[in-house]
Amino acid sequence: MAPVPTSNSKLPAEVQAIEKFFYLTPERLNEIVKGFRTEFEDGLQNFGRDTAMIPSYCLNVPNGSEVGTFLALDLGGTNLRVCEVTLEGKNNFNVQQRKYKITDELKQGEARALFDYIADSVDSFLTDIGTEMDENEKIHLGFTFSFPVEQTALNKGKLLTWTKGFACKNAIGHDVVKLLQDALDRKHVHVRCSALVNDTVGTLLSRSYQSGPALIGAIFGTGTNGAYIDRVETITKLGETAITESKKGGKDAGEYMVVNTEWGAIDNQRKVLPVSMFDNKLDRESINPRKQAFEKMVSGMYLGEIVRNILLYLVDNLLLFSGYSSPILNTHYGFDTAFVSAIEAAKSAQEVKSAIFRELNIPENNISEQDVELVQWACQAVSTRAAALSACAVAAVVLHTKALDRSDPIDVGMDGSVAEFLPFFEERVRAALRDTIGQDAEQRVTFGLAKDGSGVGAALCALQAYKAEKQGLHPEVKKMDATVPGLADL
Ligand code: BGC
Repeated sequence: MAPVPTSNSKLPAEVQAIEKFFYLTPERLNEIVKGFRTEFEDGLQNFGRDTAMIPSYCLNVPNGSEVGTFLALDLGGTNLRVCEVTLEGKNNFNVQQRKYKITDELKQGEARALFDYIADSVDSFLTDIGTEMDENEKIHLGFTFSFPVEQTALNKGKLLTWTKGFACKNAIGHDVVKLLQDALDRKHVHVRCSALVNDTVGTLLSRSYQSGPALIGAIFGTGTNGAYIDRVETITKLGETAITESKKGGKDAGEYMVVNTEWGAIDNQRKVLPVSMFDNKLDRESINPRKQAFEKMVSGMYLGEIVRNILLYLVDNLLLFSGYSSPILNTHYGFDTAFVSAIEAAKSAQEVKSAIFRELNIPENNISEQDVELVQWACQAVSTRAAALSACAVAAVVLHTKALDRSDPIDVGMDGSVAEFLPFFEERVRAALRDTIGQDAEQRVTFGLAKDGSGVGAALCALQAYKAEKQGLHPEVKKMDATVPGLADL
């Protein structure tokens, strides 16, 4: 497949009519970036917006010299990961980890059951690895919780909403650190949750730890989101006092804060996003209709499902597989983004046919040359749009932070299955960046996978909280117009 395809005029008229939703012109992309910037600014000025622009209370990015051993928990995708992270300094770290499956029952049952399961997993992890930590001191844990949480401190924050197929009862509006700590205490697990961190914030910290200062940490995986570094004075919803305090801190302590944008919820009002009938169907059949509009066009949880909706439309218009479907193709979320990746990576028509047979169970002798082309077209259209929209989010942050007016590097640390496994993702992101911020600017942007961002980032935040505590500083920072003692000191 071509890394950066354009529309194909040999395709049937019905297909060409759909293309405008997927191949976005430079004008369209720039309009989207403009809309995104408006939402970013609105979220920085006001609490309660969908694009929540959450202050993380993480004020320092690491320089790679940090050392210490911490536990890290990572909840937010398909699995729960429990890790022991040893920060070794010199930009190095070491991770021991185990994964625990989160079933659909846990994702949609009572929050208490989910947190009990997490506490049990931590317990069995500690037994498994035979931790050597000090018996008399509780083990510090950083909790990467990859959902929108309105944080009021490094170790405190209320869940705003669930995303990515989670819908546990009695969690929204609750402090997730407390939910976890209560479960650990109920189970007598000798662990103290000292920091709460979004995976994007973790990715930004981990990338900075490993490769020098990054501007953005982005996840393109089951869900999508980005965090970036902003001046506290730009986060005007924090109020006058916070801003004045932040200035006292100076460049290295307090003037800047990592902001978790929650860009997955950008344009829930659908003012600028290219919403097609396939996106609309996906949204209305989802467990969170009218939420996470951007995420539903970009992230791994949904790309397979958009392709499925397109393929079914083509089947029903008798353009594909002679009008025949298969039980998998008929099943809601019947296949995932791995199918899209396999089709995009295929090097011959035969490889495409084999993937269609393997993943959709359509017999190979029922797959015509036109079927091969149409399936490739659908996968390419959906993943090209996902990359172009991802670029719009990155461009909006770059422009918002005025990074182009400075000479420092513009580095984006990324993690997630889409960034890692979807063929041509970075090339396509770059093509759309050229259309939005221009060629010279695009060349200044560097991308790099920040593997293990969630684990290492959580450990780095736990270290920050630990240091603050040892120095007798209380890690809590009140939001809004309250006085903000310690904001500059953390
Ligand atoms: C969540 C974010 C998270 C992202 C990537 C989204 O659904 O709202 O908090 O960072 O997924 O995991």
